[in-house]
Amino acid sequence: MHILLTGGTGFIGSHTAVDLMEHGHEVVLYDNLCNSSEDVVEAIEKITGRRPAFVRGDIRDKALLADTMRRYGIEAVVHFAGLKAVGESCAKPLEYYDNNVNGTLIVLDAMRETGVKRIIFSSSATVYGTPQKLPLTEDHPVGTGITNPYGRTKGMIEEILADCCRADDKLTAICLRYFNPIGAHASGLIGENPNGIPNNLLPYVARVASGKLACIQVFGNDYDTVDGTGVRDYIHVVDLARGHTAALEKSTVVSGWHAVNLGTGRGSSVLEIIHAFEKACGHTLAYKIVDRRPGDVAACWADPKKALEFLGWKAELTLEEMCSSAWRYECLHKDAEAS
Ligand code: NAD
Ligand code: UD1
Repeated sequence: MHILLTGGTGFIGSHTAVDLMEHGHEVVLYDNLCNSSEDVVEAIEKITGRRPAFVRGDIRDKALLADTMRRYGIEAVVHFAGLKAVGESCAKPLEYYDNNVNGTLIVLDAMRETGVKRIIFSSSATVYGTPQKLPLTEDHPVGTGITNPYGRTKGMIEEILADCCRADDKLTAICLRYFNPIGAHASGLIGENPNGIPNNLLPYVARVASGKLACIQVFGNDYDTVDGTGVRDYIHVVDLARGHTAALEKSTVVSGWHAVNLGTGRGSSVLEIIHAFEKACGHTLAYKIVDRRPGDVAACWADPKKALEFLGWKAELTLEEMCSSAWRYECLHKDAEAS
């Protein structure tokens, strides 16, 4: 299959490109590089032995997008491109609605113009808001209770995709609701490299381990969880990537709108993550307990049954592999990171 990956040089896009290429698909990475680097193209070539096509462009540039779809004979789109920082989305909501929601409208319009009928969308467990029950199943209420503009863009895009599927019975849209992707490719050549001080737990822990940051702040230890710290469903990004390959294959035999959780079904606390990372890097990590972070939920993990039934996919890699691969990536890239 010829597949366009919007946001293809990003963290999840680059790992998905590798998995798709290893399954014999042809990929085109389409990215404006606002949160990634073109060096990723070379890293993917080193891993797979083939250089993926790369187009530097913005998803809001419809002419370039449609031209790229025609030029490469695109048959499906995996739509990763978007802004994803929760705090920033509260300060700059218009930028988030423009980039994420308006950007998706333009991707769909270019698909309509060029006759592309399949889209896999990067959604998030954030669409569930505060969980009413655990584990989270796909029929849990969505939309109400989302606490920030970033999360709302994901909820809105899911609804837009559902409306487009209602209007065109040949269209397939699979919304993959990611839980907490972490880790890196086993080669250490691609991984997660956020600019500035990381907001998310794993990249922060990795930088404390490499000595670039001094101490992990644990946001609260008075939640009703195993040790009082927040519990999340961390999933290896390589497993997550495989979920996209499975969804693309499924999209050739189903039409309509579908939502599927990509998680492991297991929760880990912040302290469990810190201790797993200590094992991976071979030394203890400094941490201190601070106040809860506003907007955080106590616990969140997936029911992954539908992914197995619908996609024939399940997560296989362990927390140890998530931490050891993230550490390998950190060691290989510590000098290259933005401060
Ligand atoms: P990322 O920032 O590494 O990748 C996103 C890519 O999109 C970047 O390479 C960026 O340069 C590109 N991009 C952004 N706006 C663009 C635009 N207008 N035109 C072209 N390219 C653009 O993020 P990621 O972690 O790989 O996330 C990929 C997707 O998955 C995002 O939509 C994100 O919201 C979603 N998601 C991520 C997580 C997570 O924890 N990483 C969780 C749930 C959902
Ligand atoms: C966050 C976003 C979510 C987004 C996801 C992936 C918020 C409120 N939610 O999820 O919308 O989809 O990232 O990008 O920002 N923690 C610490 N110290 C830290 C960082 C985090 O203790 O320095 C804790 C948090 O309180 C939480 C856990 O670690 O319990 C995971 O946090 P994080 O990695 O930011 O992910 P989420 O909050 O689950």
